[in-house]
Amino acid sequence: MERLDRLARLGAVGDDGGITRPGLSAVEDDAHTLVAGWCEEAGLAVSRDAAGNLYARPADSPAAAEIWSGSHVDTVPSGGRFDGALGVVAALEAVIEVAAARPGAPLAVVVFRDEEGWRFRNGCFGSRSVVGDIGPEDLAQRDAAGISVAEALAALGLAGPPVDVALPAAYVETHIEQGPMLESAGAPLGDVAAIVGMAGFSVTFSGSSGHAGTVPMSDRSDAFAACAELAVRLRDRALEIPGSVVTIGDVAIPNPASNVIPGVVRASIDVRAPSIEALDLLVAAVPAVAADVAARNRCGVDAARGGRWQPVALSNRIRRSIRAAARRTEVPITELVSGAGHDAGVLAAAGVDAGMLFVRSLNGGASHRPDELSDEADVAAAIAVLAETLRSLL
Ligand code: GLV
Ligand code: MN
Ligand code: MN
Repeated sequence: MERLDRLARLGAVGDDGGITRPGLSAVEDDAHTLVAGWCEEAGLAVSRDAAGNLYARPADSPAAAEIWSGSHVDTVPSGGRFDGALGVVAALEAVIEVAAARPGAPLAVVVFRDEEGWRFRNGCFGSRSVVGDIGPEDLAQRDAAGISVAEALAALGLAGPPVDVALPAAYVETHIEQGPMLESAGAPLGDVAAIVGMAGFSVTFSGSSGHAGTVPMSDRSDAFAACAELAVRLRDRALEIPGSVVTIGDVAIPNPASNVIPGVVRASIDVRAPSIEALDLLVAAVPAVAADVAARNRCGVDAARGGRWQPVALSNRIRRSIRAAARRTEVPITELVSGAGHDAGVLAAAGVDAGMLFVRSLNGGASHRPDELSDEADVAAAIAVLAETLRSLL
């Protein structure tokens, strides 16, 4: 089967103009089932852990000191065809190729659950389950429809963490870059040096709802005005801290109406930075600025902290293997830092030797959008370099 054909077939699962496969949903499960079928057709032995992560191994491969490659197949709402899916398809193709010449090689294709994290406001559920980083508070987290993580798992017939899985000796994840650097550098592939640090917050402003026409401006406690001020003030703070970024991407006004002053607003805040110092500065600004804008708008505020990941350096050993594999395969490769979070970061933070191979994103690096695109030749080059990397690690 053509490589891009597998991506197209995965892209048909959850197609709504973009692609919507929420983490721990039936649609994500359908994508897992499709991939599991391909793995079985290829003669790989498929298994799942209690969190629903999928593993596919060459027959007779030993369980110890494995080398894993994979990614995720959940997406953001109306996302693209490549984010996550490319890493799964590349891993499957590379493992098939390597295992054909080395039957029983200790390799596994891995498909993690709910990497994106927008549904339950905390990402990398599957890989965090594998490293033992899921607590009762994660399982109690609820989505916008009031469904908890524990309920979502039960609906899929999954017991949920803890999972009984030995960490691998190495993990190599292929992923689209999701930014414009490789395209501007004219390089098809990237070797990822590090992944930025991230922190999430859920902020609730509580003011007072009321009639849009009769309450004087000076008497209002407008929760949306407070949230809007927060967005502008945090943007300005991030502009002062080199490399840091902040995003308020999910804002909800309960019972919204054009002629009612918003009494309550709930918002997500996503903070990222390449260094701990920069991350700490921006994280510290969130509750302070939220309290200030709440007071200015005569509202109350609760800023609850969500997940936090420190910036993480990827393994020098795996990076050397990726670069040497690119040299042998004669594919240009350049070094990058990832501004997006990845399962590789979770495994690296837990002490696994993890590396990432980025594939040039086209369309100016468009991602988390339906027009994500990478070139077929770049995808083929990535699979060749991944296979060579896996061979060299065996
Ligand atoms: C995952 O795509 C993230 O970085 O939010
Ligand atoms: Mn991804
Ligand atoms: Mn993503």
